Amino acid sequence: MIRQRDGQLLADSLLELPAILDALNCRRVLLVLDRGASRASGADRLLPDLLGSRLAGVFDDFSPNPVCSQPLAAARCALDLGADSMLAFGGGSGMDVAKVGALAAGTPAHAEQLVHGVYLEGATPLPIVAIPTTSGTGSEATHFSAVYVDGRKISVAHHAMRPRGVVLDPDLHATMPAFVAATTGLDALCQATESIWAVGATDASIEHAIAAQAVLTKHLVSSVRRAERTDRERVMWGAHWAGQAINISKTTASHALSYELTTRFGIAHGLGVALTLGHVAAFNANVSDADCTHPRGAALVRHRVEQSVRGVFNCDPDHMPARVRELLIELNLPACLRDAGVTEDSLAPMAETVDTVRLSNNPRRVGFQDALRILHNAF
Ligand SMILES: NC(=O)c1ccc[n+]([C@@H]2O[C@H](COP(=O)([O-])OP(=O)(O)OC[C@H]3O[C@@H](n4cnc5c(N)ncnc54)[C@H](O)[C@@H]3O)[C@@H](O)[C@H]2O)c1
Repeated sequence: MIRQRDGQLLADSLLELPAILDALNCRRVLLVLDRGASRASGADRLLPDLLGSRLAGVFDDFSPNPVCSQPLAAARCALDLGADSMLAFGGGSGMDVAKVGALAAGTPAHAEQLVHGVYLEGATPLPIVAIPTTSGTGSEATHFSAVYVDGRKISVAHHAMRPRGVVLDPDLHATMPAFVAATTGLDALCQATESIWAVGATDASIEHAIAAQAVLTKHLVSSVRRAERTDRERVMWGAHWAGQAINISKTTASHALSYELTTRFGIAHGLGVALTLGHVAAFNANVSDADCTHPRGAALVRHRVEQSVRGVFNCDPDHMPARVRELLIELNLPACLRDAGVTEDSLAPMAETVDTVRLSNNPRRVGFQDALRILHNAF
């Protein structure tokens, strides 16, 4: 059944894709396809029939944690084929390529600037439909994307980059290997947790984040270990609600610190975020009026950090680093930066080059020494 939710058309079966495309008047679709995910999930056998004559072409030349030349190539492909819309099938990487590609294709004269993070109010992205296959980044719910330029992460944002149609089909999530299920589930859990204490949080984003935390806390470990359909389905929804939450609030210091871990050491995105989450929680809990960046003051921030930490681990913020470690071990993942392959001499350079966009949304000011201390604590 197709329904309208949070400003998007939402279907819960891949079989409803034609109806979503018709409802959005998408007649010539460029399919941005993660071939690994489509083969593993069996969707490769269904997509050609579901798309029929609407399929203008397929773009599959992108990597995990995409670099900016990839959405630019997708945009050229869309323009050459006369596509009127983008359909993303895959995890956060494929969805981000399609979203940024749609922005560049809709405004070709400024494509280069846009994919480098320059905001253009009048840009007109092609309409996007997203079919996530990881649970997940929540990219299907957000109006921003991450691309890498010369090893640095760039945030590309535009209100019309938010997918207009979304298919959330649990059968497509069943085939995620345990490592992908664990790391993408952690991304969602971290998003929900950070979202609550973010400067940009609102009542609506907090509501989404709390709903996400509740299901992720209950189902993440079993969805990785046993991979049963019910658990995978719950985590899929949890990841979507976490995406709805950060679409409003955005993420904070753990996400900011993670991008360097991914570029320098190839650490999977969700794991990179989780490795500092507990330490950021403990750091934020000690906010004072002198270093508070939230306009409503330090007392509110302390309350929100406490609320966020209790929602996931039912502990106080000081115990959060230990609880996150336990969770990572339960998920069969490295539990500290050293075990994840990070070298001690890289901590200072990483603290120097941390992503300032997401850092500015952290409710406690994070200077170089603070970032370095958090990384040392996580080491
Ligand atoms: N735009 C946003 O709001 C947002 C939010 C968070 C993260 N991100 C971005 O998302 C990217 C990470 O995405 P991701 O963690 O989903 O991983 P991914 O898209 O890079 O996929 C990881 C691997 O899993 C495989 N895979 C995906 N689905 C599968 C399935 N169902 N069965 C079998 N294999 C499958 C893929 O082929 C790939 O090899 C990063 O670039 C990150 O910056 C974006």
